[in-house]
Amino acid sequence: MPNSRTHDMDGAETGVVQLTAGRACFPNLIYIAYDRASGDAVVIDPGWASETIVDAAKERGLTLRAILVTHGHRDHTEAVETLSAQADLPVWGTRPCLDTLDLPAHRERVLTTDQRLRVGALAITALLTPGHTACSVSYIVGDCLFPGDTLFIEGCGLVATPNGDAGDLFRSCARLKRSVPDAARVFPGHEYARPVGMRFDAVKATNFYLRLETEENFTAFCNRPRRGLKPPMVGTVPDMVARIHDHSVPTQDHSMKQAG
Ligand SMILES: [Fe+2]
Repeated sequence: MPNSRTHDMDGAETGVVQLTAGRACFPNLIYIAYDRASGDAVVIDPGWASETIVDAAKERGLTLRAILVTHGHRDHTEAVETLSAQADLPVWGTRPCLDTLDLPAHRERVLTTDQRLRVGALAITALLTPGHTACSVSYIVGDCLFPGDTLFIEGCGLVATPNGDAGDLFRSCARLKRSVPDAARVFPGHEYARPVGMRFDAVKATNFYLRLETEENFTAFCNRPRRGLKPPMVGTVPDMVARIHDHSVPTQDHSMKQAG
């Protein structure tokens, strides 16, 4: 398989396959998260490359069970309908997010509140984390956090997109800090200066947004004048071939704190 690397570590329980795909100038990270014992897997934010996702799962002996969507921006959802139909997969997301997609009702799984899900052998916690968009969700799958564009390793997603709100994002970040274990690995929707997969306690220590303690300061920083107002080129045509990278996550503490 081209461009793949494997870093197996003793005790790893949740496997993560990362596909980097989309626009070369602003690629998306699409993930397959899987239970290493059973091979049960979910796909998070299939923005592009549905064929590559199916092939990557097949090559690893994984069984795709569901799609998890963090929010409705097309660079995170463009391939959802195709992949869902191709593999007959249910799609989890909030109502406004699912309404942006053309899915048959029997494949929709609507999140209306924080929820613990069981998808095959995978234990998943869905946390409503509005701010980047009003319908944003973060997923904890096994011992990994998939926050979409709510939280990056280095910062947070823009809030000036339709229905974005800095106050909501501040409260969502506070919820993540209360709910996500320190040992969870963080896999956001985009990668900037630092590699994804960092432990959450390290992200908390270095991400400036998570260090802002008041809503007033957080909102002022989110809305600072030099910051862009729109996500770049949502929905434009992808122009890069998907790259694949295998992560392996060491098991440390699987006990989830109570969702706040
Ligand atoms: Fe986004």
